[in-house]
Amino acid sequence: MSLKELNVLMLGDIIGTPGMEEMFLKLPQLKKKEKINLVIANGENSNEGFGITEANIKSYRQCGVDVITSGNHIWSTKEIDKLLTDYNFLLRPANYPEASGKGYWIGEVEGVKIGVINLMGRYFMTPIDCPFQVLGKLLKTELKTCSAIIVDFHAEFPNEKMSLAFDFDGKISLLAGTHTHVQTADEKILPKGTGYITDLGMCGGIDSVIGMDKRGVIEKILKQTTVPFEPSKQNSRLQGIIATIDVQTKKATSIKRVSI
Ligand SMILES: [Fe+2]
Ligand SMILES: [Fe+2]
Repeated sequence: MSLKELNVLMLGDIIGTPGMEEMFLKLPQLKKKEKINLVIANGENSNEGFGITEANIKSYRQCGVDVITSGNHIWSTKEIDKLLTDYNFLLRPANYPEASGKGYWIGEVEGVKIGVINLMGRYFMTPIDCPFQVLGKLLKTELKTCSAIIVDFHAEFPNEKMSLAFDFDGKISLLAGTHTHVQTADEKILPKGTGYITDLGMCGGIDSVIGMDKRGVIEKILKQTTVPFEPSKQNSRLQGIIATIDVQTKKATSIKRVSI
C-alpha cells in the first residue's frame, strides 16, 4: 500500500562545516522521531558559505537528504556545471534563463510521485526570468501528475514570497522561502491548502550575522574593504519546517517550525 500522507522536512540554508555538522548530529534522529518520508535541504552555502562541492553532496546523501535545493550562491564552485549535470537531485533555481542542470526534481517516495521545484526571487537579487511565469509553465509539464508539489523559493523580499504563495495557493502543496537565513514565525496553511513559511532559517551557528562570524562582517561594513568571512560555530542550530501533505488532495494538513 502506498503512502497517504507525506511528512516532509525542509531545512534552511546549511552554512559551511558548522551547518554540515549539525546535520550529521541531528538529522538521522529527527527523521526517525518525526517519521519523515522526504528531506529537502538548501545547499547553496555548504562550501564554507559559498556553493557546494561533490564531497558536500555525498555528505548530504549519507545523512538522508533526498533533494538539495539552492540559490544565488550555487555558482560559487568551479565544478558546479558538472555537479548539476551529474546529480539530478541537486537543483538550481528553475528561472535562470540559461544554466546547467535543472530547477526541478520528480521522484517516487514510497510509491507516490512527488515534485520539488526551486525558484529564485528578483527583488534585491539578480533579475532572472519571472518566477511566477516559470512556475505556471512548470505546473503544465509532467509535474502536474505529481501527488505533491513542494517549492523552495529563494528570495530576499517577504512581499515577493507571500505573493507567489498566494498566487499559487491550492496549485502547489507547500512553499517555503530560503535565502535570508533568518527563520520567520509565520508558518501557516493558506486558504486553498498550500503550506507556507516566509523563511526556513538556517543550519549552523545562529549567534552570527546570518551564519557568518560576526567580527568579519562588522569589519567589512566598517572598512568597506574585502574581508574574508568564516562560518560561525556559535550556538549551532538545525532550522526548517516539518509539513504533512495529504497526497490524495495534494494539500498541506500541518506545518510546524523546527529549531533544534
Ligand atoms: Fe544562503
Ligand atoms: Fe542565497
